[in-house]
Formats: sequence, C-alpha cells, structure tokens
Amino acid sequence: MRYVIGIDIGTSGTKTVLFDEVGTVISSATVEYPMYQPQNGYAEQNPLDWYNASISTVKTVLENSGVKNTDIVGIGLSGQMHGLVMLDENGDIIRNSIIWCDQRTAKEVDEMNEKIGREKLIEITANPALTGWTAAKILWVKNNEPENYAKCCHILLPKDYIRYKLTGKFATEVSDASGMQLLDVPNRCWSREVCDALGIDMSLLAKVYESCEITGRITEESAVLTGLAVGTPVVGGAGDNAAAAVGTGVVSDGKAFTTIGTSGVVFAHTSKVSIDPKGRVHTCCAAVPDCWHIMGVIQSAGLSLKWFRDNFCQSEKETAALMGVDPYYLMDKEAETVSIGANRLIYIPYLMGERTPHLDPNARGMFFGLSAIHTKKDMLRAVMEGVTYALRDSIEICREMDINVSDMMACGGGGTSSLWRQMLADQYGCPVKTTSSKEGPALGVAILALVGAGVYSTVQEACEKIVKTDKVQEPIAENVSKYEKYFRLYDEIYPAVKSNFEKLAQM
Ligand code: XUL
Repeated sequence: MRYVIGIDIGTSGTKTVLFDEVGTVISSATVEYPMYQPQNGYAEQNPLDWYNASISTVKTVLENSGVKNTDIVGIGLSGQMHGLVMLDENGDIIRNSIIWCDQRTAKEVDEMNEKIGREKLIEITANPALTGWTAAKILWVKNNEPENYAKCCHILLPKDYIRYKLTGKFATEVSDASGMQLLDVPNRCWSREVCDALGIDMSLLAKVYESCEITGRITEESAVLTGLAVGTPVVGGAGDNAAAAVGTGVVSDGKAFTTIGTSGVVFAHTSKVSIDPKGRVHTCCAAVPDCWHIMGVIQSAGLSLKWFRDNFCQSEKETAALMGVDPYYLMDKEAETVSIGANRLIYIPYLMGERTPHLDPNARGMFFGLSAIHTKKDMLRAVMEGVTYALRDSIEICREMDINVSDMMACGGGGTSSLWRQMLADQYGCPVKTTSSKEGPALGVAILALVGAGVYSTVQEACEKIVKTDKVQEPIAENVSKYEKYFRLYDEIYPAVKSNFEKLAQM
C-alpha cells in the first residue's frame, strides 16, 4: 500500500492527515496558533507558528501511523489564501504575515484601480482589486514600511512558505497564486503588465506550477525534523477552497460545493475561463489542470448563527449541556418547527460587511419585518434562511454567467445540519449532498500528491476512486416556490438601504 500526507495550514491551526492510496485516514494531528490584531481591521500571523505546527503534526502523524516513511509517495500542501510572507536574502522572515482577513489596504486598492484601471485588472487577474488579496498588502508594505520592502527578496503565500522550509524551493501553484492578484488567470502565469504597473519586481515571485506537479523534495534538514524520508516529493497543492473542491470531488462541470463555516463559500467548477465583468464573484485557476472555478464568498454565514446562539440562546446552551448534545442541534430542532419564510421575517446577514455580491464593507445585518408576533424561533429560522438567500446570490450570478451548477456538495459546520441542507436544495433547485470523508482540503491535496506520484493519472480519476457521496437531499417543489417569493424580496432590500448603511458608517 502507498500513502500520502496532506498538510492544511489554516487560520486557527494546521491539520495534517496521513491517508492511504484510497483515501482512508490513517492518522491525523492538529496544532493551533494565535492570530494577532494589532489594530482594528488588522490581522497577522507568525509564519514560524505555521512552520512549527507543520513539523510537529507531520512528526505526530508518522509516529502514530506505524507507516514506513519510504511508503509515503508524496505530500500536498493546502492553506489559507492571500497571506503575504516576505523573506530577506537569507530566507528569513522580515515581518509577520498580513493574512487574508486583514482590511488595512483601502488606499492601496484605490492605487491599483488608478494605476491599472478596474476593467483591465478584471480582464487580466479575473477579479477587481480586493483589500484582502496579496497585491494590495504588498503595496501597503511598500508605502508604509519601505525599510521592510527594501529587504524583501522573496514573496510567498502561507503554504508556499512551508514548502520553502520543507524543500528549499521557492514555488507556488496556480490556484493560490490566483488570489495574489498578480497572476494572469486566463493564461495561468504571472502578469508582467500588472507587476510593472504596480512597481513589483517579478523576480520576488515564486515559480508557478500546476497543482499536481512536483515542486520540490524533502531536504535532509526537514527529514531529520519530521521523520519523513529525504527526497519525498512535495506537489504544488492548492489554496484551501480549491483543495476542498478536490477533496469533495468538485472537479468537473456541473459540480459545486457550498461551505457554511464562519464565512460562506459557493464554489463552482468550470472547464472554460469565465469572468464576471462586474467582479461580484472571484474567478481563479482550479487545482485541476486547464480548469477554473468561480467562487462567491459571504462574510457571515455560520458567524450569524453563532452570533444568535451566543446572544439569545443561553437556555439552549444549558439544556444542550445537560443532554450532552451540541446547542446547534437544539436550535435546528426549534427552527424546524417554524414554516418557510419565518412568519414573514427576513434576516440580512451582513454582520461584517459583505463581499459577494455587494463588495460593501459598510453593509450591516437586519431583521426585516419584525413584528410583535415573532418569537425567538422565528428569528432563528430567519437567520438560517437569510444566510441561504445570501449564498443563493452567488448561484444566481453563476447561472447568469452560464456556469452549470446542478450537483452541490455541502461542507463546513453548517453543512452537517439537514435542515440547512434542505434550505440550500430548495433555494438552489438542485440536489445537495455530503461526502463520507470530512477531511476536505487535506484530502484534496493528498489526492493531488497521489496524482503527482503517478498513482492515478488524472485528478478526476483519483476523485472517482476516492471521494464517496454520503447523504443526498432533493429540492421539494412546494418549498421551491415558497422560497422564490421571499428570495426576490430579500434581493430588493439591500439596494433600498445601501446609502443608509453609508450614512450609518459615518456616524
Ligand atoms: C478565500 C478566502 C478564504 C481564505 C481563508 O478568498 O479569503 O477562504 O482562503 O481560509
């Protein structure tokens, strides 16, 4: 039997999983680390925390598995996207990484639009200038910390820093590089035009590979630290969402997944490059060669329900503790007793501003239609429905762009709720499924490593053998038509109050 390792460098921690060649989990380990917020809107992490977590989790999974290190045929890396890692001439870290959720770069976004033009930027990088993406962060360091910028010899993404430490190679791959906003996404290579216009020297950037190509091999030093065999190949891997797509089998047209985690993601695979001229959804290179994906991101999906739980569901928390169940389980049961439309109550989930489709940091949440007849249960159901309406906005954009979305996987904490999955099926008008493996990104990059090692000849073939569907929920015709009316009304609310959000932000 051959084995592979998937390392997922997430925001809350690094998870490493050792799989056999058919995707069975042999052993798994996670190490958490902090996120630093030195100012409101700032978010940073120390890349050495990711490195130490990667080393120790690889060591643990190897020791706990009993697998011989020479039977490990490859390693795949997945990670949080968009983070900026800057290294000096000795390969040492210059400053903490400014990570994906950092929002300090509003001025740099304006600078990008002025220097390149919004339309040109969308044409080349497939996305409008975004505060959370890497190019704006590079400009921020250039503008605000010129002494650090002067020392910079290498710019890497989070998982690519771990690759450098494990293999000594400066390399990245197309899916994660798409989120730097320096990549020519249709042509899958760095854009000289964008780099020149922004004054970013292309020699700072790593070599770009396809996600299943071998990018380097474990060095003697990292072999000693991890217990891996010298020379074990490390493939490109993928950004966390592209990796999750492979791990859930979303690798051919028609397939898509929805994640309800803290944020919410609607991800659709496409074999032709397709860009939203309005920039409402992201287009990135997929981890599957010659393919792309469309991705809509909402800021407060699971976060909305967590906010509701923490502020209004103390009794559910206490009862759940006595019963030994999760409070979300009881909240689900309560929401189930309310009919569709939550007795004419609509929740708008923009607690942290909104990305898709509005790109509006000033937008905020609302209960629309609140009346004295409403109870906590109605509000609870409205929160779940409101998150689903917001996710549906991305589906509508995909369909407007002629992207076929007919086969949907549900992931993340929210994806474990059958009530929420039914809402998705009824709103999207297509079956919503779950996969039997819950390893998402780690499995996705392990699959890429199996392809890189030649165990499977294509990503699609590997997914067919490895990814298994679990539960399936079909849309219920009667529900579909009821939700339709509520969704149309939901979509009218934001444009009607957009300017009021702006005024509120200035108060
Ligand atoms: C994607 C995004 C997040 C990060 C962190 O655009 O910002 O999903 O990759 O997980």
